[in-house]
Amino acid sequence: MIEKLKTALWFLARPSHWAQARELGMRKLRPDRDGSEFARAAHDWATARAVPVAEALAAIGMTPASGKDTPRLPERLLAEARARAKQSKVMMGGPGDIDLLYAATRLSGAARVVETGVAYGWSSLAILAALKDREGAKLVSVDMPYPKMNN
Ligand SMILES: C[S@@+](CC[C@H](N)C(=O)[O-])C[C@H]1O[C@@H](n2cnc3c(N)ncnc32)[C@H](O)[C@@H]1O
Repeated sequence: MIEKLKTALWFLARPSHWAQARELGMRKLRPDRDGSEFARAAHDWATARAVPVAEALAAIGMTPASGKDTPRLPERLLAEARARAKQSKVMMGGPGDIDLLYAATRLSGAARVVETGVAYGWSSLAILAALKDREGAKLVSVDMPYPKMNN
């Protein structure tokens, strides 16, 4: 009960998050609205179509220059990120396909990138690392709040 009250107060103090509070409330009232059925269907749909990164990139016309390998996030950077994530006191979801994101950002030549969903920032790391030497490049990241987690 105390936890529910804390959550309510957290949202009450943040008018910009009231729409999310309403959605969470609706899910409590109507458990069929939680999306798990859709999540399962989406997972099955994606699993049936999963292909290796290089094949996915080739399908959208992003192939490395002849004789070059698909660009990969530097291992040193990944190791540092893993060490930092381990120290986090907040539990969040796991990463997206950061190999795909890194390679797509490098090969597309993108200079302006928008990502929705940040969490620990694995995808941000992949995109920013790929943009690192691109002059004037910019990543805009948007996330939802993690109520009461002080993050
Ligand atoms: C699995 S995590 C993202 C992982 C991240 N992209 C990565 O690869 O490290 C999903 C994130 O999406 C955020 N999210 C969910 N719905 C969203 C929305 N409508 N707009 C923005 N972010 C959203 C969640 O708050 C969560 O941080």
